[in-house]
Amino acid sequence: MKKLKIVTIGGGSSYTPELIDGFIKRYAELPVSDYYLLDIEEGREKLEIVGKLAKRMVEKAGIPMTIHLTLDREEALKDADFVTTQLRVGFLDARINDEKIPLKYGVLGQETTGPGGFMKAQRTIPVLLDICRDMEKYCPNAWLINFTNPAGIVTEAIARHSSIKSLGICSGANSMLMDIAKAYDVEKSQVYARIMGLNHLIFADRIYIDGADVTDDFIEKLAQGSATNALKNIPDIGFSARFAKALRMYPISYLKYFFLTREMVDAALADQKTKGTRGEQTREIERKLFELYQDETLTGKPKELEQRGGAWYSDTACSIISAIYNDKKEIHVVNTTNRGATGDLPDHVTLETNAVIDRQGAHPLAYGPLPVKIRGLIQSVKAYEELTVEAAITGDYDTALLALTINPLVPSANVAEQILNEYLEVNQRYLPQYFNNAKEQQ
Ligand code: G6P
Repeated sequence: MKKLKIVTIGGGSSYTPELIDGFIKRYAELPVSDYYLLDIEEGREKLEIVGKLAKRMVEKAGIPMTIHLTLDREEALKDADFVTTQLRVGFLDARINDEKIPLKYGVLGQETTGPGGFMKAQRTIPVLLDICRDMEKYCPNAWLINFTNPAGIVTEAIARHSSIKSLGICSGANSMLMDIAKAYDVEKSQVYARIMGLNHLIFADRIYIDGADVTDDFIEKLAQGSATNALKNIPDIGFSARFAKALRMYPISYLKYFFLTREMVDAALADQKTKGTRGEQTREIERKLFELYQDETLTGKPKELEQRGGAWYSDTACSIISAIYNDKKEIHVVNTTNRGATGDLPDHVTLETNAVIDRQGAHPLAYGPLPVKIRGLIQSVKAYEELTVEAAITGDYDTALLALTINPLVPSANVAEQILNEYLEVNQRYLPQYFNNAKEQQ
């Protein structure tokens, strides 16, 4: 049988044991012979720690998968079949700056939503497109499965500026399906939700259990608080029962940043003074995880990994890779190019929705018009995302200023300018596309 080579870029991530667990569980249908964990020099120590745990997990499972650890991108990418990415340019320190700077102006500071997502995209897109250039050279037929945030924006940049076949994935939709299953005490496989939107801005407007429509009943559960849409990384502030019923859709938790902005910014400001920003909390979770990972007796992914917001994402990543490899024609929620799934967004933009996954990739299900109650929000966030991609590629200051200004969570062009200037100053070393332009234009 042809050897199956998979690469994870950002291999030293604390999420990697999730992926190893996912590939081990699926070995019969997805016989990975060589799994390369690739990282950069600054991530060498983490790569060694995660790599040793990965080898212990594979050895305990007794499957013939060889784990390779490397800092050499060409060695890793050569003839790869699938490449997954989960990297954080600037590490958590950069994320914490992304969170803190907007909060100084009373504006949401968050990893992927609002100005934080803009800044993470500016650091990340050049690196991901450089990886695409290398994939075009060393594994032009490989699939790029992107988990790197902001996943939707990054996936759009890849789709529009490289020839590499790609999909974007996120743990959000999977968490929503798990919450629905929990509310009805059924298996996740018995749940189907009609989902549409953007990454970290998706909505389920129809919910089925074994094919029976339970939408109104689930909305009632949400209204009464007996069902949740809580993600570990988002403050558990809920909508009123009245609003939950008025919306009559099941939103990802991130919607609260747009429809409960004042309350969520106040919570972020309060948290900053007590337990720190989410990035600071995550840094502490990471420290404890890497202590755990160094325990030679650990031969599985630890429960503590569920404290991360992206927990269980491997279910999504590995099942999608298997659906492509085995031409399964399964339906999964992915970030993919619109191509007419909804006429209320341009065909060329990336959205997050149900798609049939087979050897040719993702075929988004026809959704039709966006409900008017969320159409404006989705269209304005997508416009922000398109300018964010353009700014990341061109390094054009004015495009960046416009992107931030039209983001619904940024209240004024003056505030956008102040946030942008501080962001550029703090991130110069990660912004080759800006560094010279920024100095000339200011
Ligand atoms: C979410 C999202 C991920 C995000 C993560 C943050 O659930 O789906 O895209 O990166 O949580 O979690 P963290 O533990 O890093 O705050």
